Amino acid sequence: MEDMTLVLFGATGDLAQRKLFPALYNLYLDGKLPAKVSIIGLGRKYISDEAFQSKVEKALRAYSRRSVQASNLPDFLSKFRYFTFDATIAESYEKLLELVERRENELEIPQNRLFYLSVAPSLVDVITTNLHASGLDQNEGWKRLIIEKPFGSNIKTARRLNDKLRQTFSEEEIYRIDHYLGKPMVQSLNTLILANPVLDSLLDQKLISNVQITASEVVGVETRADYYDKAGAIRDMVQNHLLQLVMTAALYLPENLAENKTRAKKTEIIKSLRLIPKEEAHQHVVRGQYEAGEIHDVPVIGYKEEQGVDASSKNDTYFAARLAIDHPAWEGIPFYIRTGKRMDKKSTQIVVEFKHKMVDSTKLQGTSPNLLVLEISPNESISLRVNLKEPSGSQFKPVWIDFSTNSENQPEAYELLLFDAILGDSTFFAHWKEVELSWEWIEPLLEAYQEDLLPLHPYRSGSTGPEAADELLQEDQHKWW
Ligand code: BG6
Repeated sequence: MEDMTLVLFGATGDLAQRKLFPALYNLYLDGKLPAKVSIIGLGRKYISDEAFQSKVEKALRAYSRRSVQASNLPDFLSKFRYFTFDATIAESYEKLLELVERRENELEIPQNRLFYLSVAPSLVDVITTNLHASGLDQNEGWKRLIIEKPFGSNIKTARRLNDKLRQTFSEEEIYRIDHYLGKPMVQSLNTLILANPVLDSLLDQKLISNVQITASEVVGVETRADYYDKAGAIRDMVQNHLLQLVMTAALYLPENLAENKTRAKKTEIIKSLRLIPKEEAHQHVVRGQYEAGEIHDVPVIGYKEEQGVDASSKNDTYFAARLAIDHPAWEGIPFYIRTGKRMDKKSTQIVVEFKHKMVDSTKLQGTSPNLLVLEISPNESISLRVNLKEPSGSQFKPVWIDFSTNSENQPEAYELLLFDAILGDSTFFAHWKEVELSWEWIEPLLEAYQEDLLPLHPYRSGSTGPEAADELLQEDQHKWW
């Protein structure tokens, strides 16, 4: 691991406090930060280095998964400096360069620079332009850029953004974060299957009936109406997280691949994802919006009543779809995806449903399809559902075989992803091709939205979503698990 500088744009923002500082601290505790690292936090307001370090400490105390240790805290905090910065003023970048170089000299470290953009999308353009104009990117060591979502709001804006970034960074230097790719279960799926030939042999095209991917949330729009009411579930969750899970599941489940081919193979999958023309969208896609209801017996308001949401909003807070992957490994096996806010529980999981033999049904009473469930969050587990006969009767009943590991105190997604970026491993970051093809798949659906070709189904808060989503699977004689 090489010594380096981390320049964090947006260091006083929410993500930095909740995720990035705790991630850096936990990496530090695990000996996964370079021996010498200069961390420079940028924000608009003036604060002193000491005040910034106290802010970092406060964030660790509030959000770190491991408690703060007095013995090493001063050493950790000593790596941080603060720089008051206005992204729109060229002079800011020149002064930033002076500070970066001064710290590089003080610490006697090479000019390896990792720039982390945790800022409003409107600032990305001006920041990357000025990184170049100021010479911050003309260093002797390596340079890398980590960028947060949203990566554009449609295919056009995503392409424009990418062209902009590419004027300063090469594709290999750009690390597009999708925190779902940092979830430990997603990261270890490949090795888990490699380590368990039993699982591998189950994941056979001949045996699989369908694959279901669910990312349900209990929370509503919270305080983000400004962004969310324009983005909707389709941009907020589907274009990125859900399609990334589709690619990951489709990639690993039927065949194990050398890790360095991961991104190329994911591109192959997303390329094979059959486009849904806007005229056919209503046959394969269900969009919904939450109404008032109860979450764990507590009444909650509907989406249109939320603060900052237009009372006539047609924004989707729920999205479900039937996908077909035109790839030899997935011929005839549908993928169903769904995500929603204000659902009955928080759960992200991939379910593989196996074909069910209905021969001589009198002898097989009570049986139901075998399922392999990969739970990604909030808990991590792998379980297999099989049919067992009740000792006293002739009926079968489903029983779960649980391969759960103890997932307490697992590293957080941001820890794993930051560590990868420090090492220069981009396996679990979204390649431009994946992002571009995802937007291409989304585009006709956005058009269907605009042209009012897709009804918006209301659903009760605390439910499993609109009935239309159940009907979508019933058409194929399936149901959501
Ligand atoms: C974010 C979305 O990317 O992912 C949020 O913007 C969503 O709307 C969140 O709540 C869900 O992430 P997780 O890790 O809690 O499943």
